[in-house]
Amino acid sequence: MPQTEGILDVWYGFVGANPHLVATFAGADGAPDPHYLAAVRQRFGQWIDDVCNRTYDQTWLAYQEEIGRRHHPTGKNTTDGVTSTATYIPLRHLTALIVPITMTIRGFLTNSEASAEEVDAMYHAWFKAVTLSVVLWSRPYNDELW
Ligand code: HEM
Repeated sequence: MPQTEGILDVWYGFVGANPHLVATFAGADGAPDPHYLAAVRQRFGQWIDDVCNRTYDQTWLAYQEEIGRRHHPTGKNTTDGVTSTATYIPLRHLTALIVPITMTIRGFLTNSEASAEEVDAMYHAWFKAVTLSVVLWSRPYNDELW
């Protein structure tokens, strides 16, 4: 996707500016682990592409469960083999991040030939897709009441 790196720069800037967010990328010594940040950034870029272009089929659904686990104590830190001081992302932080992840995308959507009407449609589709993703990722946190 042409604007992926620009989008990731904005989001990583946001995470870096908020101590409670960047704390989840801490290594064993409690300081942000640059290798962990870089490895996750790669998968984050893939996620942007998938959200926009993939068919939301059973394989996609199974991967949403996996992303949920990677924010949850059952899966965080395992993919990159890190020994982080943060063992999970609190559910309240996961859901609240929908707001900046949505609001910051608008500027990127207007960086195109799209009409104002098309930008609105893409913005709404993005908001729905991010919300759906986080709803699915919350399943491991809500196992009993799902
Ligand atoms: C709308 C909310 C969020 C979105 C869209 C999002 C997106 C992602 C994506 C796409 C990945 C990589 C998944 C993969 O491995 O394929 C990831 C991993 C990660 N995210 Fe999030 N995230 C959100 C909320 C948060 C919040 C609030 C935090 C921090 C407080 C956070 C911290 C992390 C960490 C530390 C990882 C790496 C987990 C691991 O594999 O060890 N995320 N996130």
